[in-house]
Amino acid sequence: KCGDIVKELEEKCRTPVSKLRHIADAMTVEMHAGLASEGGSKLKMLITYVDNLPTRDEQGVYYALDLGGTNFRVLRVQLAGKSGIEYKEFAEVSIPPELMVGAPEALFDYIAAELAKFIASENEKFRLLPGRQRELGFTFSFPVLQLSIDSGTLIRWTKGFSIGEMVGKDVVAELRKAMDRQGVDMRVSALVNDTVGTLAGGRYDNKDVAVAVILGTGSNAAYVERAQAIPKWHGPHPKSGEMVINMEWGNFKSSHLPLTEYDNTMDAESLNPGEQIYEKLISGMYLGELLRRVLYRMANEAALFGDMVPPKLKTQFILRTPEMCAMHHDTSPDLKVVGEKLKDILEIPNTPLSTRKIVVEVCNIIATRGARLAAAGILGILKKIGRDGFRDGAIPEIVIAMDGGLYEHYTKYRNCLEKTLEELVGDKVANHVKLILSNDGSGIGAALLAACHSQYI
Ligand code: BG6
Ligand code: GLC
Repeated sequence: KCGDIVKELEEKCRTPVSKLRHIADAMTVEMHAGLASEGGSKLKMLITYVDNLPTRDEQGVYYALDLGGTNFRVLRVQLAGKSGIEYKEFAEVSIPPELMVGAPEALFDYIAAELAKFIASENEKFRLLPGRQRELGFTFSFPVLQLSIDSGTLIRWTKGFSIGEMVGKDVVAELRKAMDRQGVDMRVSALVNDTVGTLAGGRYDNKDVAVAVILGTGSNAAYVERAQAIPKWHGPHPKSGEMVINMEWGNFKSSHLPLTEYDNTMDAESLNPGEQIYEKLISGMYLGELLRRVLYRMANEAALFGDMVPPKLKTQFILRTPEMCAMHHDTSPDLKVVGEKLKDILEIPNTPLSTRKIVVEVCNIIATRGARLAAAGILGILKKIGRDGFRDGAIPEIVIAMDGGLYEHYTKYRNCLEKTLEELVGDKVANHVKLILSNDGSGIGAALLAACHSQYI
């Protein structure tokens, strides 16, 4: 019976190349629609007001706040023009879960207080020119409708955040108020999504970076678009002729996506039902939870763990993706790690090897589906910008800056994504498409964008 459930899951999660191509094509179509008009697609294709990426001429001390991933970070960098980053320093704390669903003031006061602490610990390596105000890039990793580089209203929360009062408000104004309350004197020069920060940080290191993808708690992508290809943009034509677009691809949906009963019930019971469907298939917040749901059904219907359904298995989000990853990578002959995780997290002792093997199989099905779907999304972007094959008789180099805990730590997921992308674009093109880990690029990218939009230039 367990075998039947696994088979059914495998069948429903199949992502043959033909399906992935349909998904990539649907992504390209939605990108066009989202660029054509506001509300034209499930893909918001947000205009970021970033029309010039770092050039390595940036100089001075800049700060960044990074909110929206697993951890909250504050950092400062000393930029020394062509010589690059002279010093950098950061502090990292986790966001207390109650602040993710509480009042806006509580969340923003918390981050402003961390910022105040960080400034107080400044050492003499960082040289702010006399008489100058500190400047900050704010990475805020949620969908925001920007009206300028340094303002924007929250469209809705995603991932585990849900602070109703914030929706529709200007996030920079909220941050400023909290900074005033905490006595922090700083100018917020740039408001950026983490994908945009990663793109800026990636470009600083490598001029061929034109796309950034986050695969972490959530998932999203940003890329450099030709301004002329954005019909909904009515502002002045940027000098560079380009504009960075924050796709918010997590909200992508297509009839080609292989959705199962587990996906549908997880979505229905989530904080944002009907939204972020693609994100719920591919990103770190959800993979472990999908695993739990499959195991729960097997425990119920096929006595996977014996006569009793282990009570812990009923708790939503108890199985986190890092744990799933550890089980999936277990190479010991008796699957010792799997046994330990089942015991420690779910309080299921002494599982036989046959049970452990089933758990690993389920991990593999869920992670493989996610990684292959993420590869299809990347192909969709490459197609949109004409980088999925020859152009003017040659294949141009393109580098994709990648970040996020899932991509960084879940090796099997990452390998599968890379192999699938190769499979999709073919060997020849694959040699010209590089994925690089741009770890913490987004914080640095936000500081760099603050430098590009400094009040002193
Ligand atoms: C970090 C970036 O490295 O990755 C953040 O600095 C980003 O801006 C984060 O949000 C995403 O990964 P995760 O796994 O923390 O959600
Ligand atoms: C979610 C957010 C998006 C962010 C992504 C990765 O999808 O909506 O803004 O970029 O997570 O952190």
